[in-house]
Amino acid sequence: MTALAWKLTCVDCATDYPGLELRNRCQCGGTLDVVHDFSAVADSLSTAYFDQRLGARLPADRSGVWRFRELILPLSPDEIVTKPEGNTNLYRAARVADYVGLDDFQLKHEGENPTASFKDRGMTVGISLAKKLGMTRVACASTGNTSASLAAYAAQAGMKAYVFIPEGKIAYGKLSQALAYGARTIQIAGDFDRAMQLVEALCDQEGIYLLNSINPFRIEGQKAIGFELLQDLNWEVPDWIVLPGGNLGNNSALSKGLYELKELGLIDRLPRIAVIQAEGANPLYTAYTTGRDLVPVAQAETIATAIRIGNPVSFQKSMRGILASDGIVEQVSDQEILDAKAQVDAAGIGAEPASCTTVAGAKKLVARGVIGPKQRVCGILTGHLLKDSDTVVGYHRDELAGIKGNYANPPISVAANLAEVLKHIRD
Ligand code: F0G
Repeated sequence: MTALAWKLTCVDCATDYPGLELRNRCQCGGTLDVVHDFSAVADSLSTAYFDQRLGARLPADRSGVWRFRELILPLSPDEIVTKPEGNTNLYRAARVADYVGLDDFQLKHEGENPTASFKDRGMTVGISLAKKLGMTRVACASTGNTSASLAAYAAQAGMKAYVFIPEGKIAYGKLSQALAYGARTIQIAGDFDRAMQLVEALCDQEGIYLLNSINPFRIEGQKAIGFELLQDLNWEVPDWIVLPGGNLGNNSALSKGLYELKELGLIDRLPRIAVIQAEGANPLYTAYTTGRDLVPVAQAETIATAIRIGNPVSFQKSMRGILASDGIVEQVSDQEILDAKAQVDAAGIGAEPASCTTVAGAKKLVARGVIGPKQRVCGILTGHLLKDSDTVVGYHRDELAGIKGNYANPPISVAANLAEVLKHIRD
């Protein structure tokens, strides 16, 4: 162990590197974990220790990420770039629970983060570390949300941001954020997987700091979704946590964080983790159900553009976490995603399409008998409804190719006189 309280360790070959070494992968090509030495702090940590920071004024304590900094990255408050993130709501909606077939179903809305997706939790840590390392240029490939988050945090930290996106395949809510926050936005004539390869090569060659979730510090920040969810539940462990899977960083982070909480004795058991993929972008589902290694999907396709990913970077970490929690992987169709989304939206919660794989997947797992109707289940909604308003309007106007607006609430056009208007009020 170095003087730092963490080191980097390869997921494949277990080679160790110093905690601040600038590298995206192990020399063997494997991805890296941040491995903490909790020995100096373990005795002082308790759930009450984290609870007493709730309601604090210091930004580092108010952030739903840095409130847990001993478990994430022990930076000092003046090293931290924060908005502050987290403190997202946990919703209980009878309408959605009925739709899914559960009595006890709650949704944690990560779209309530500063740039309206869960990515901010990882980005605050990634950018803070970039600052500590003296980096001035940062980059990512993105299906949209990472680019919005990177652009905002880089602007706040005074760094130059480069974002690579698949041309025509990201929702406007996200593209507009990247442009507005001043990132150099490069649209690739290819998909996310190609953009990811290009940006990794670019960062290696140019010494630009890579802030995709291959960066293990991003993963550390995203662990806080699980920490905060447990804190919301008064540290009572649910039976299941359900969330979407794309590049697979988020579920890797959730599993890693919960495992560490259990190792530290802050929880007594692990929840089971269910990762839900879109049918057209399902390499984890295929690997899980066949027991084989990753076979990338050559041309991933789904209306949930956030998870339109065929070659996920965190495949190994993800599978490790699912197996450790006795978890499962499910897949859902675009129709199932948008019908579930209509329920989430009509409950007044609202989320973007990829988020609603959570609800569609939970429904399917209940129907299959994998999740019992009396079990306590929490789902993660990953992005805000307004990220992708084109898809919302398309669904409610029943104009989306290959999708039926089963729960559509179309706008009504009416002549501008009271008699005509009243016809639509008294029905
Ligand atoms: N939900 C949303 C709204 C996302 O934006 C993403 C990923 C995911 C789920 C999947 O999370 O990749 O950790 O498995 N979006 C990335 C991006 C890829 O570039 O914004 P994951």
